[in-house]
Amino acid sequence: MKHQVKQHWPAESIWETVVPLLPGFSVEVVPEIDSTNSELMRRARAARLDPVLLVAEQQSAGRGRLGRSWSSVAGDTLTFSLGLPMQSRNLSGLSLVVGLCVVQSLHPALLLKWPNDVWYEGRKLAGILVETASVGEACYVVIGIGVNIHVHQSDGLRTPMAVLSELLPEADAATTLLKLALPLVQAVQRFEREGFAAFMDAYSRRDALLGQQIQCSDGLVGIGGGVSNLGELLVQTDSGLVKINSAEVSVRPFGQTTP
Ligand code: BTN
Repeated sequence: MKHQVKQHWPAESIWETVVPLLPGFSVEVVPEIDSTNSELMRRARAARLDPVLLVAEQQSAGRGRLGRSWSSVAGDTLTFSLGLPMQSRNLSGLSLVVGLCVVQSLHPALLLKWPNDVWYEGRKLAGILVETASVGEACYVVIGIGVNIHVHQSDGLRTPMAVLSELLPEADAATTLLKLALPLVQAVQRFEREGFAAFMDAYSRRDALLGQQIQCSDGLVGIGGGVSNLGELLVQTDSGLVKINSAEVSVRPFGQTTP
């Protein structure tokens, strides 16, 4: 279903609240692009390192984690990326912090499936793709977020879709962006100062896998034991505690056939 394709994007309001935290910040809204993450990564490689929020009403080649694609429909999905230079080169846990920020900013009923899938009642409502570019001494981070707002057709969907309008019937892409932009910048800056450890307790309160029997794509089976102070997933197995790094595997509740 297509919903209200003509959005009134709150670019000015977002800019006004974020620019005091991020000097040089800009907001760009484009009708269509291949992928907001790909575009900001291209710019970073061309040494364009200013902080920017890039929103696309439509993506023609949206990308997800683990080399997957991310399909979306204008008006039914919010797709954007925040690009910014970061001091820290140790970004372990950043993508979990972004997921936490999304669930905290959008609705109390939302949970996280490690590392950062946003879940509602066991279905995926939002996905996050964090990428980095090293440019000389600088590190530029691109945080891409896709939020399902209304039900839409989605190619190659691996998990059943949840949509924000189930929880917030008036939700649209523009108001959802407004709820996310400032908290996202604040969370990233707190992460830069304090690391993932500062977010561990809050993450565990939203951890959908905590205490659940889970299965990893590499065959490992165990009980979700929370996350480490570096954001690794802890799995209690018959042979002891195993730490899983987000780059390696995907995880699902035991018995669910798709990650
Ligand atoms: C995942 O769940 O695998 C991550 C999905 C991330 C999708 C967002 S949409 C905006 C940004 N641009 C992209 O190409 N991907 C991210």
